[in-house]
Amino acid sequence: MRRKITVIGGGNVGATAAQRVAEQQLADVVLVDVVEGMPQGKALDMYQSGAVEGFDVTITGANDYAATAGSSLCIITAGLARKPGMSRDDLLRKNEEIVADATRKFIAHSPDAFIIVVTNPLDAMTEVARRVSGLPKNKVLGMAGVLDSARMRAFIAMELNVSMTNIHAFVLGGHGDTMVPLPRYSTVAGIPITELMSAERVDAICKRTATGGAEIVNLLKTGSAYYAPSAAAVEMADSILNDKRKIMPCAVYLEGEYGIDKLYVGVPAVLGANGVEKIIEIKLTAEEDAALKKSAEAVKELVDKLGC
Ligand code: NAI
Ligand code: 2OP
Repeated sequence: MRRKITVIGGGNVGATAAQRVAEQQLADVVLVDVVEGMPQGKALDMYQSGAVEGFDVTITGANDYAATAGSSLCIITAGLARKPGMSRDDLLRKNEEIVADATRKFIAHSPDAFIIVVTNPLDAMTEVARRVSGLPKNKVLGMAGVLDSARMRAFIAMELNVSMTNIHAFVLGGHGDTMVPLPRYSTVAGIPITELMSAERVDAICKRTATGGAEIVNLLKTGSAYYAPSAAAVEMADSILNDKRKIMPCAVYLEGEYGIDKLYVGVPAVLGANGVEKIIEIKLTAEEDAALKKSAEAVKELVDKLGC
């Protein structure tokens, strides 16, 4: 039996994630979107690229969920971007509706699948998927920390002119202005970055990381980042489906860990065949802990406004 991944939302992040899944031959892909013809057209185009790229998985586009049946994992990217005149709360309600609808329809056909949420506001939308799917907490997680850490790794590589593959970085907290980059746990070939650059440069990198999404929106003007976000979501899917047990910062449901209860917040976790295999609790300084709690508060404010 071939493995299947469903990607819901065939926009920038969703379509690029589908392409990455196919190019890595991770699974057959079903791309779902509400826009008629669009996922079918993108899927066909992507499938034809397989002849050149040399991949052998199928890619199907759909507007309903019948073709998603029997998926092992779903990546939810469906959602709206904030439009002029729309408040953050309006966006929260609209995307809650979209994520809830997508989750309900998906889970009806694949009741045991894993769900990785990408739609913003990320931590709150992951909670929507958990509540609506009824899945255990190890099966529903959100992508943000891998992206935020990738951005920090890129900025460190640019600063030190070294390979990104030598760099590990950790960014905790919710996916937003209050995220918590952790320089003490960010290393180049095992050496903490705090020993390789001045405190001012470390601080500048942390600030640029926290505003990394906005930096790209300001450049693109008509959308947000999608190359790095899709790569991050697919790396998480790969670690789960191939039981790689990579440690990645992701939005996981905390029940007491880090002193945070019943809330999705970004922390390091081992991702393997059971989804979230283990939450890693690292020691934080009083300052880091306060920043993480503040970030969790910002997530809680949104979660308290959910209707589901
Ligand atoms: P996009 O606008 O290119 O694509 C969104 C797609 O969702 C559209 O094609 C739209 O037709 C579709 N859609 C809307 N309602 C739907 C429904 N009910 N069922 C199926 N599809 C539906 O947006 P993009 O750039 O792909 O971003 C998607 C989401 O991911 C946004 O909420 C964005 O803010 C978020 N995002 C989150 C990141 C993270 O780190 N967690 C990083 C990048 C984006
Ligand atoms: C990002 O960080 C928009 O959340 C998205 O790029």
